[in-house]
Amino acid sequence: MKVLVGYMSQTGNTKKVAEAIFSQIQADKEIKSLDEIQSLGGYDLAFIGFPLQGFAPANDAKVFLEQHCAGKKLALFVTHAVPEGYEELPGWLDKCREAAAVGNVVGCFDCQGELAEPIAEVLKQSGDPKMVGFGEMRPSTMGQPDEARLERARAFAREVMAK
Ligand SMILES: Cc1cc2nc3c(=O)[nH]c(=O)nc-3n(C[C@H](O)[C@H](O)[C@H](O)COP(=O)(O)O)c2cc1C
Repeated sequence: MKVLVGYMSQTGNTKKVAEAIFSQIQADKEIKSLDEIQSLGGYDLAFIGFPLQGFAPANDAKVFLEQHCAGKKLALFVTHAVPEGYEELPGWLDKCREAAAVGNVVGCFDCQGELAEPIAEVLKQSGDPKMVGFGEMRPSTMGQPDEARLERARAFAREVMAK
C-alpha cells in the first residue's frame, strides 16, 4: 500500500495538518506540496489538503483535484479561518467535495486555521461589512490549528487508514 499526503499551504496551517496526518500512516508513504506532484499514478490512497479561499477550495487545489484525481481513492483535509460551527461552512465544504468528485472520496476532515494578518487587514479595509467581520475574526483564530485540532487530524488519518 502506497500513500501520498499532498498539500497546498500558503501560511503553514494546512502543512501542520498534513504533517499530523503523515505521522499516523503506517505504510509506504510520501509527503509533498501539490506543486511537487506530477501524478498520482502508483499511489493507492492520497490525502489531499488545502485552505478554503473565497468560500471554496483554493483555486490551485481545485485545478489539481480536477486534473490529477480522477478515479483515485482520496481523503480530503481542509483548513479555514471560520470556526468549525460557522453556519455557511457546510456549503463551502460541499464545494471541496464537488471539486474532488472525479475521485473516490473516502473521508473529509476540516479544521480552523489562523487567519494571516495581511489578509485580515485587507478584509477589514474592504468596506464590505461581511468581509470586515471576517477580518475581525483574526484574534479568535490565532494559534490554530492547535494541538486538539491536530489530534483530531491524527485520528482522522488513523480512521481512513483502517478502512
Ligand atoms: C485569499 C484568501 C481567501 C480566504 N477565504 C476564506 C474563506 O472563504 N473562508 C474561510 O473560512 N477562510 C478563508 N481564508 C482563510 C484560510 O482558509 C485559512 O487561514 C487557512 O487556514 C490558511 O491555510 P494555509 O496557512 O495552509 O494557507 C482565506 C484566506 C485567503 C488568503
